[in-house]
Amino acid sequence: MALYAIGDLHLSFGTDKPMDVFGGGWVDYTDKLSAGFSTLNADDMCVLCGDTSWGMSLEESLEDFRFIDNLPGRKIILKGNHDYWWSTAAKMESFFSINNITSIEILHNNCYYYEGVAICGTRGWLGDSEFTAEQNAKIYARETNRLRVSLQSAKDADKIICFFHYPIRFKNIVCHDMIDVMNKFNVKNCYYGHLHGDGHRLAVRGLIDGINYEIISADFINFTPMRVS
Ligand SMILES: [Fe+2]
Ligand SMILES: [Fe+2]
Repeated sequence: MALYAIGDLHLSFGTDKPMDVFGGGWVDYTDKLSAGFSTLNADDMCVLCGDTSWGMSLEESLEDFRFIDNLPGRKIILKGNHDYWWSTAAKMESFFSINNITSIEILHNNCYYYEGVAICGTRGWLGDSEFTAEQNAKIYARETNRLRVSLQSAKDADKIICFFHYPIRFKNIVCHDMIDVMNKFNVKNCYYGHLHGDGHRLAVRGLIDGINYEIISADFINFTPMRVS
């Protein structure tokens, strides 16, 4: 039994946005994902760190969910900036149930336990020039609180791992409030996606002030889930 993570599948089985057009590693990416997941077992778990489907609604994303559901193992899914299909947890869970999607669960203001490890996290936020400073601060505070709520729900865990869509450290941005929350709950490892192509060069990796950072964007890890525990 093992815990894995991968982000940014960017599936488009129900829409017309295949990532193959970007060339490079993205060519035949869904075949690579199938191959990458093929070594996982039914009792393994994989955290999907956002930007999962290009669908604009749950219905448009259904074929992507079916693709994921057919991959081995349980999947814990969190929100990325391109997951426009994202809805309330109740609506998403109901949609999965109605469509017999049985291996996908939602990480949002909660946590999951797997073999003594608590799986916590949230989307995160780096700020966006389309928003005012006040709006960015509000979104950042909301995401920080979601992280706190997720971690508070993991109080029985021996070990906690945090998963985000956005990096916690990027260029001159450091999400100090989120780092403070992780430190408060003794989190030592976090994983994130979002960065693609040239962005990989800017990814912060390794140990900084007691927390280990690692990027798990699908195109960075050759569409093969990374074992994290
Ligand atoms: Fe993203
Ligand atoms: Fe992405």
